[in-house]
Amino acid sequence: MFANLKPLPTDPILGLMAKYKQDDNPNKIDLGVGVYKNEQGDTPVLDAVKKAEAFRLENERSKAYIGLAGDLGFCSKMESLLLGEHKALLANRVRTAQTPGGTGALRVAAEFIAKANPNATIWVTTPTWANHISLFQAAGLNVKEYPYYDYENKGLLFDEMLAALKTVAPGDVVLLHACCHNPSGMDLNADQWQQVAECAKEVGFTPLIDIAYQGFGTSLEQDAAGLRAMADAVDEMIICSSCSKNFGLYRERIGACSIISESANVADVANSVLLSVVRSIYSMPPAHGAAIVDTILGSEELTSLWHQELAEMRDRINGLRSLVVDALAAQGVEQDFSFIQRQHGMFSFLGINKEQIEQLQKDYSIYIVGSSRVNVAGVSQTNIDYFANAVASVIK
Ligand code: LMR
Repeated sequence: MFANLKPLPTDPILGLMAKYKQDDNPNKIDLGVGVYKNEQGDTPVLDAVKKAEAFRLENERSKAYIGLAGDLGFCSKMESLLLGEHKALLANRVRTAQTPGGTGALRVAAEFIAKANPNATIWVTTPTWANHISLFQAAGLNVKEYPYYDYENKGLLFDEMLAALKTVAPGDVVLLHACCHNPSGMDLNADQWQQVAECAKEVGFTPLIDIAYQGFGTSLEQDAAGLRAMADAVDEMIICSSCSKNFGLYRERIGACSIISESANVADVANSVLLSVVRSIYSMPPAHGAAIVDTILGSEELTSLWHQELAEMRDRINGLRSLVVDALAAQGVEQDFSFIQRQHGMFSFLGINKEQIEQLQKDYSIYIVGSSRVNVAGVSQTNIDYFANAVASVIK
């Protein structure tokens, strides 16, 4: 049976990660996978996480299963982190399941949607995270795209986006990136969120908000403002969140799928479906990542340490955005790269072509995704000149 299998291409992001590891050029630079790096090129464990783990080691009393929804303390703290003191929480309309990472949250959401409306089409931005489309298709959903990033002007195709969303069928699902759009770094402003929220209400589509970078853009609150504006406007919504980046818990695989329903009664029914989806995929989530987040968010001292460490990561990324723009200008490149400073989170498109991307890899061991997406956090004071010089050489 296995002999009949046809080989499949490697994932564009993870394949690049493997190639980078094998490269023995001491000057190599990894701007591929979306993982935060410090000035030394490391992705260290946050101090707040280390402290929470030490507490956990002392205080953990059992390894028994934690239940289908996972750690309930974690789930309710995540709801507050995402929604603040939103009316939907006060009205008991939100249910959350802890999931294996943000990807786990998206897959659970996809299976949930397939049960709620098997004919639903899910609409994603052009472009979107490389894994979104295959993930939704794997759950049997029909996927369509709506215009989003303006490659030419390095901005948003907002009018086109809104026009496309007005044609979506009621009962369809529209995926929106809450902040730090992956892969473009281009986010909606407050007024645009308001317009999309009004459109969702008018048309009757269900928004699915993917929030994998809360705190990496402007602030924890600001990065959730669009999501909250949406929750103000609609009765039903899905939120898929991740603690990989903002808590640096990548390999612990910790995220959440939250469902907002029109009433507490409908929320209970939706929750039963959500939990049955979980049961049929992985039965119950692992405990460690949730316990860390629950411990941090349950302690004033650890929360304030985490806020500080999160701000350091964000400030470094924003500083690197300016550094990249200045370094490219200093190399005398003619193109205007100032858009990188206007975008948010770890990613931006350099806007260079396939050959130039290949040349960066072949001649300079600089690894960026084939779409020209760069992870700005992979740049440092040490490698910036090497990077800017390489980009200048391949684009001239
Ligand atoms: C990325 O976009 O690089 C990250 O979200 C990591 C991944 O799994 O693709």
